[in-house]
Amino acid sequence: MKRSVVVIGSQWGDEGKGKITNYLSEKADFVVRYQGGDNAGHTIQFGGTTYKLHLIPSGIFNANIINVLGNGMVINPRNLLEEINNLKSLGYDCKNLRISERAQVILDYHLELDALKEKALGSGKIGTTKKGIGPAYTDKTSREGIRMVDFVSSDFKKLYSEKLNKKNEEIARLGGETIDFEKTYLEYKEIADQIQEYVCDTITLLNDGIRNGKKILFEGAQGAMLDVDFGSYPFVTSSNATSGGVCSGSGVGPTFIDEIIGVVKSYSTRVGSGVFPSEFEDEVAKDIRERAHEYGTTTKRPRRIGWLDCVVLKYSTMVCGFTGISLMLLDILSGLEQIKICTAYKVDGKIITTVPANNKLYEKCEPVYETLPGWKEDISKVTSFSQLPENAKHYIERIEELVGVKVKCFSVGPDKTQTIMREEIF
Ligand code: IMP
Repeated sequence: MKRSVVVIGSQWGDEGKGKITNYLSEKADFVVRYQGGDNAGHTIQFGGTTYKLHLIPSGIFNANIINVLGNGMVINPRNLLEEINNLKSLGYDCKNLRISERAQVILDYHLELDALKEKALGSGKIGTTKKGIGPAYTDKTSREGIRMVDFVSSDFKKLYSEKLNKKNEEIARLGGETIDFEKTYLEYKEIADQIQEYVCDTITLLNDGIRNGKKILFEGAQGAMLDVDFGSYPFVTSSNATSGGVCSGSGVGPTFIDEIIGVVKSYSTRVGSGVFPSEFEDEVAKDIRERAHEYGTTTKRPRRIGWLDCVVLKYSTMVCGFTGISLMLLDILSGLEQIKICTAYKVDGKIITTVPANNKLYEKCEPVYETLPGWKEDISKVTSFSQLPENAKHYIERIEELVGVKVKCFSVGPDKTQTIMREEIF
């Protein structure tokens, strides 16, 4: 019996984690987010309705599942309350939500500093979501952050006043608009009063749960290639989006992790700046963007499109230890004459099969492609692997060969029913 399953994006985020997490959450007692904040955007579709969540795990729709925002997260309390109120207005009471008292809080000055720092970088900008993620993690690491436990306590006023004074100096220095203490404090106080009931010791909650035979689903945000250690630094997010982040961001030890599912989009996308060797821009790319609606859930920016990059997949499998793959958006490739898979990079006349740390070298990497025949059939109604056209089967099997991990499930459409399990995951 599996005690816990982790779902992680294997590429640059937006792989369709929300859908598979929502699917797997039915068997979970807890769904836990362990890193990132509302830079993430999860789209979940069921019963003909589309839901967009940025902070709250998708298990929130099931009253029997406890949804945890773990200690490794950075949480904008204003946006969190808005999400809670939205869910309440749709009939979901959120009584099954818990927030770690150790999670860091994103305040207005983090948003302002995120925007100012991006502006100062000019053409070298990261292309962040401007949600204050980087500045909030910077404060956490430099031990200047405010945690949830402080935010909902009576000490918050003094703490906030001290921090804001310092941050306003920095904002003014960078040419930004300083933040008014009285106005923001009163708003934060009201928010704190409303979210206080959810703030608790989630570490003990989860560990007690796991000892009592409860099942945990860990929901990763962003993707392995946006990880602060393993991604294409500095064009990354500021947290550990890979499996290492699960333990530090939830307080559950590595010995309790039983399965790590890499979510793989059947092609590649990236939002924001940074190297993307298999990127291509032609009519096929445009068609994929429109058919799959490849626009950021959080920022609405058009996503860059590329072929599946197995150098990246092998690398993310290595750093995350994937035990299975969930292949998403396979239906989007239907109708293509040919499908390419990047199997290696060519740089300075040499073939390499790893992701270089040196960005200048990575920029020079040319993708080496293997070309597979496509399939014409509409696959959106298939219910098993055996019903797929031969070329679609071959595409899946080739990915398994190249990456060395089984494709345990695949998805042929946005609805929950269009998720096909080849092997039980939970
Ligand atoms: P930040 O996380 O807002 O600091 O942005 C850093 C980089 O990560 C930028 O390239 C963003 O576009 C990217 N990013 C952050 N969150 C997501 C996500 O959920 N999906 C895809 N890209 C993301």
